[in-house]
Amino acid sequence: EQLDKVTIVGSGAWGSSIATKIGRNCARLPFFEEKVSMWVYEEMVDVEGSVEKMKLTEVINTRHENVKYLPGITLPENVVAVPDLAEACRDATLLIFVLPHQFLPRLLPIIREAAHPSCRGVSLIKGIDFCKEKGTPILISQGIAEAMGDGFECGVLMGANVASEVAEGQMCESTLASNFGPPADEITRRLFDSPPHFRVQHITDVQGAEVCGALKNVIALGAGFVDGVGLGSNTKAALMRVGLKEMAKFCHMFFDGIRDDTFMESCGMADLITTCFGGRNRKCAEAFAKQQMKDIKEGRVIAYDLKQSEALWTKIEADLLNGQKLQGTITSKDVYNLICARNVTADFPLIKKIYDIAYGGHPVEEIVLGISTVPTPS
Ligand code: NAD
Ligand code: 13P
Repeated sequence: EQLDKVTIVGSGAWGSSIATKIGRNCARLPFFEEKVSMWVYEEMVDVEGSVEKMKLTEVINTRHENVKYLPGITLPENVVAVPDLAEACRDATLLIFVLPHQFLPRLLPIIREAAHPSCRGVSLIKGIDFCKEKGTPILISQGIAEAMGDGFECGVLMGANVASEVAEGQMCESTLASNFGPPADEITRRLFDSPPHFRVQHITDVQGAEVCGALKNVIALGAGFVDGVGLGSNTKAALMRVGLKEMAKFCHMFFDGIRDDTFMESCGMADLITTCFGGRNRKCAEAFAKQQMKDIKEGRVIAYDLKQSEALWTKIEADLLNGQKLQGTITSKDVYNLICARNVTADFPLIKKIYDIAYGGHPVEEIVLGISTVPTPS
């Protein structure tokens, strides 16, 4: 039996965090080659004890720590940082895609060229694309499979998995959705599953799991608005309930074969909960809300225009995330454009209201209207 050669494409907070599980599993399980390549977008970083900046790959390979994106966590020594993408993916049979999806398209032709012909993939990316011409959503896993060609199969790992908590070894669950068939589904699950603290359940509903992962980032912006306005848990719970229903409605409207039990898995309700309390999207949206209220109160603006909204999000991302990337804002735009193109905005009053606040100059206090609007019956 050929052993799987695993490559992790991406090394941000989540890429580095999941590398702790993958590295240990590749070192101990008989299905995988021990060495795991991790493609790192090279940059110069500040390092304690060094006056000069150092290459991030060198720091990872000598100190076994991603000092920029996941400081304080030791990475397994069999995880090797590689700055050259083709070299990192050479002959890989199992590719783990884990980077902000805006950076993915230009990488895929290089990955396709380098990977083994029998390669399969798992996307950990939470986002969605939108085809303007057809007015249809495109799943990131679908985009990956099409770009890789030749019957490439791509599953997803989605779940309530704030990167730092997973890396610290706090107990949580995650959902692997894939249709590789036996034994590859189980082998792939075992790549991630790390009893007793990181438990991975397998399902076959790739589309449902992936859409949940993308849309909960949008609802989390709403949770940040609720916090910014100063409203409490009851309002946030209402937002999450309505948000989950809109997530399910979106899944059923745009995809066939969605399973309702997917929403009860870690990738569904649980990820929505953690992101609405502990995620970056929530945190940045709270800052957006507070700044908007301050600017209006102090008379600097009556309402932000699109350019001002864009500029404020960019500033907040830079100020609060130290190079990490917000996904909910991009996804909010893509999803809003899609429901407009399909003329179904009335079915998604909360998602529409979140977009209106994020980019349309609406006051953040209006978030409660998005929660309490009764959508058109389906
Ligand atoms: P991140 O936001 O922590 O880091 C940004 C990454 O982008 C860095 O690795 C950086 O090197 C890279 N980058 C910057 N410019 C680039 C360029 N031009 N080309 C290529 N790469 C570039 O990343 P993350 O948190 O690991 O997020 C990756 C995916 O995982 C996202 O879809 C996110 O939604 C998802 N996710 C994140 C978490 C989390 O808690 N962080 C949890 C689950 C899923
Ligand atoms: P944020 O990107 O909002 O931090 O969400 C992380 C996540 O996906 C947790 O599962």
